[in-house]
Amino acid sequence: MFSRIIGTGSYLPDIVVTNFDLEQRMDTSDIWIRERTGIERRHILPEGQSNVDMAEHASRAAIAAAGLTPRDIEMISYGTTTPDLIFPNAGVLLQDRLGCHGGPAFALEAACSGFIYALAVADKFVRTGSVRRALVVGSEVLSRIVDQNDRSTAILFGDGAGAVVLEASEQPGIISTHLHADGSYKHLMYCTGGPSHGAAPGAMAAGDFVRMAGSEVFKLAVTLLGRVVDETLAANGLQKAAIDWLVPHQANMRIIQAVAKKLSLPMARVIVTVQDHGNTSTASVPLALDVGVRDGRIKRGDMLLLEALGGGVTWGSALLRY
Ligand code: COA
Repeated sequence: MFSRIIGTGSYLPDIVVTNFDLEQRMDTSDIWIRERTGIERRHILPEGQSNVDMAEHASRAAIAAAGLTPRDIEMISYGTTTPDLIFPNAGVLLQDRLGCHGGPAFALEAACSGFIYALAVADKFVRTGSVRRALVVGSEVLSRIVDQNDRSTAILFGDGAGAVVLEASEQPGIISTHLHADGSYKHLMYCTGGPSHGAAPGAMAAGDFVRMAGSEVFKLAVTLLGRVVDETLAANGLQKAAIDWLVPHQANMRIIQAVAKKLSLPMARVIVTVQDHGNTSTASVPLALDVGVRDGRIKRGDMLLLEALGGGVTWGSALLRY
């Protein structure tokens, strides 16, 4: 038994902040941001709207693309680092919005690898016959934990959501998933606040933000993502040429190019959306996948390699036949 992606969806909030807007606010430039990261704009969630609001849009689009109704969903696996509440978890809040009560619904936190983690967990539930249909979500409001005056992080991150529907299938489907973490790198990328750490219970203290050692993270990402790509091919006895599309985490164009080079893939076989929304953390892989599917580049039967790395560090990949 395998799980197969039968629908994709995504959502970006209406507020767009371009590199030129950032030039007005801080000591940076459009040319610096584009050359170092490939990012041109990012979307920011308006006040009063939440992570689950975006997830609901993306999920409804994925469920409709699958030709299902929300009541067909038996489980929700939701990757996020910026949930609406500490509890109920974001999966439960989304379940209630969709009205598909009763099955398991949870959120897991693995920073920017959260979608790959959530997908791997849901895949195991479907493969082992626990559920037939699962909704996998990545949704993130990084703008709320990034210091909007810090040029080393504010230029990179944006908000958004993506979702896929998995269904049990005798044909692959998801072929393999590969998850890793190494907490000895926890100091390279982290958020200073948390519910058991902040000044007030359940709240971030003033000045608690994402901190990142950019160039160290960059080098580590290129090394570890290169390694997981090799591991994925070796585990399945595949040559690089077997990959039709790389659907990478959209953090930095230069990291994406380095992984494509490792796979000897021309950039024309890589789904790149980083210019349009920057690093949306858990949302970035399903956002890119949805773009590639909806614009017709990714076709049924294509072999896809998904990969991501995030704070922790956590990293992973998924190999699948779409
Ligand atoms: N605008 C203009 N100049 C900036 C700047 C900005 N937004 N941010 C930093 N600089 C300056 C630095 O101060 C430094 O100046 P100096 O040479 O006078 O000291 C110079 O640009 C180079 O900084 P550096 O940090 O070495 O640049 P970089 O080439 O490593 O690029 C990142 C910085 C953050 C774009 C890059 O390291 C990166 O993308 N890292 C990975 C981050 C990431 O993807 N994290 C999430 C993973 S999930």
